[in-house]
Amino acid sequence: MSGSTNGPLVVLVGPMGVGKSTVGQLLAERLDCAYRDTDEDIVVSQGRTIADIFVDEGEPAFRAIEKQAVHTALAGHDGVLALGGGSILDADTRAALAGLRVVYLSMDVEEAVKRTGLNTARPLLAVNPRRQWRDLMEARRHLYTEVAHAVVPTDNRTPEEVTQAVLDAL
Ligand code: S3P
Repeated sequence: MSGSTNGPLVVLVGPMGVGKSTVGQLLAERLDCAYRDTDEDIVVSQGRTIADIFVDEGEPAFRAIEKQAVHTALAGHDGVLALGGGSILDADTRAALAGLRVVYLSMDVEEAVKRTGLNTARPLLAVNPRRQWRDLMEARRHLYTEVAHAVVPTDNRTPEEVTQAVLDAL
């Protein structure tokens, strides 16, 4: 499926831990297409973990790598594409999403803390997960909404239920 110029069938955005990878893979099965994830692309192309890139080079360098990965995937993938949670911070990326079927998988802060609170592999949540989640969502909620064609809440839903809700929203 790579090499297409039509762009992805569906783009999933939303915060870390909301289930973009799980739902994205289920969605790809249901739509009989390929699944791709920009975080995975970055790990493969850089040969190290995202946490290591943050530690070694800092967040601005990671964002530059991420921007490149997102634009490459948008141009070369025609299946389901999941974007890293912070990719929508970039204005050019938000502009590139215009006109695509972008689905925002949302969750509330307490659900986010519950799902990711102890996960130290996520560099943005290492100090005070509840406060960091609140700040992150304050800063980003409107950006996810801005790029979204549809918003699908994930609280108290299984991945299968979320996948069905995404299909219904397309
Ligand atoms: C980030 C989300 C992560 C990863 C990095 C930064 C963010 O991706 O790109 O840790 O800023 O929200 P996932 O949303 O796939 O976990």
